[in-house]
Amino acid sequence: MPNNKKGPKKVMPGKAWEGRFTKPADPRAEDYTSSLAVDLCLLEYDIRGSQAHTRMLARCKILKPGEGRRILGGLDQVWAERKASRLKSCRQDEDVHMLVERRLHEIIGTVAGKLHTARSRNDQVVTDLKLYLRHEVAKIVQGLSGVQQALLKLAEKHMQWIMPGYTHLQVAQPVLLSHWLLAHLEAFSRDEKRFQQLLKGSLDELPLGAAALAGTSHPIDRQMTAKLLGFSRVTANSMDTVGDRDFVLEVLSSAAICGVHLSRLAEELVIFSSAEYSFLTVDQGFATGSSIMPQKRNPDIVELLRGRSGRLNGNLVTLLTVLKGLPLTYNRDLQEDKEPLFDSVNTLKQSFFILTPMLSSLRFNKMRMEEACGRGFPNATEAADHLVRQGVPFREAHAVVGRAVTAAAQKGLGLENLSLAEWRKFHPAFQPGIKQDVALSKAVSAKSSQGGTGPARVRAAVAQHRRRLFGGKKIKLLRPSGRRI
Ligand code: ARG
Repeated sequence: MPNNKKGPKKVMPGKAWEGRFTKPADPRAEDYTSSLAVDLCLLEYDIRGSQAHTRMLARCKILKPGEGRRILGGLDQVWAERKASRLKSCRQDEDVHMLVERRLHEIIGTVAGKLHTARSRNDQVVTDLKLYLRHEVAKIVQGLSGVQQALLKLAEKHMQWIMPGYTHLQVAQPVLLSHWLLAHLEAFSRDEKRFQQLLKGSLDELPLGAAALAGTSHPIDRQMTAKLLGFSRVTANSMDTVGDRDFVLEVLSSAAICGVHLSRLAEELVIFSSAEYSFLTVDQGFATGSSIMPQKRNPDIVELLRGRSGRLNGNLVTLLTVLKGLPLTYNRDLQEDKEPLFDSVNTLKQSFFILTPMLSSLRFNKMRMEEACGRGFPNATEAADHLVRQGVPFREAHAVVGRAVTAAAQKGLGLENLSLAEWRKFHPAFQPGIKQDVALSKAVSAKSSQGGTGPARVRAAVAQHRRRLFGGKKIKLLRPSGRRI
């Protein structure tokens, strides 16, 4: 390992806080408190934060120019070692921050100790987390766009196909398959907006400079650090800053809501791919077989999407529980924010990674969906609406058609098979147009209200989403520095 010849022999031999202690830590306590196994993924962000902090300290003349240069050079070397997988940790490295600082001491000697001027790990860790999240949330936004693009392409491919819409999982009214696809797309577009808001909101405020909890007596310039790291603003209150994990909760709750959407879509895909429905087929590449039943092709990938989204709820509840009842400012409990956060971020990214190609591979079965519309009287509301247009109050029309449905069901017929004479036995106001009104395609095309399944409305929605999702506007991926890549 390279070492600095000019540095003193004994560099940072023990803990950063050893001056106050007369005996070494119990190794069991060290293992118990260490978060290195979890927070090592913050190393890049820790170094970027330290680089900006060093530059600011030098510009504010808190560090001499030579000191600043040596620290920056040392940080570069730590990062180079990490990239080359040569950065070794040791037991005294309690977390990623101490690992970087210990190695920096080894490389540049005691001047490394000046890096922590006007800074505490309490504001450092929040800064690292925000830098990490600015990068990861941008990736999540990208993933959500991919899912929406796949759904949109399916909608465009099956514009006029009709399927039954369900309430209570009972056939309700016919809808366009494209309308169903766009319904799921809408949920993911809300998720996208929610995550984008975070990038402009709490993730755009710099915590660094709050120090341990009270701020610092050194003449720092927080605005300068914010600018160097790509934040628009600085946080307002130092005590709040070091204890605040709302931004983590916001990410976790947005992830949990998105998980609800993922699992509701997955659930419908499981149901609709069963032999009983056969509305769609999940490509073999995204299915698995059975070790005992030779005939099986199971939608395990979709089921895992549904199952894994449970973690997203769990992670949110975990952190809510950790935070509830904590006194203000930093408490070590806060270290427990990382595992749930990293797990939710990774779970979401993996979900989008598998869902997008799996959606693109779906095959829909037009005949099966239309057949299903023939069962369960999805056009009954159309018959009632026909009477309403003749001036019959809706409640009366509802009862009349209910009786017609009972009679048709007894004969094993659909409402579309009834003659005008038969309709008139139930109510004299039925007109010859009833035949047309209960036809499947008319039932769909008649739903021309804004947001409805009428083809013109769906076409307009598709065009709008196409402009948004394929309009040539690239999603910004922010590097931790804030610069676009
Ligand atoms: N590893 C800690 C965390 O993630 C670092 C924060 C500072 N620790 C401390 N004892 N003040 O929360």
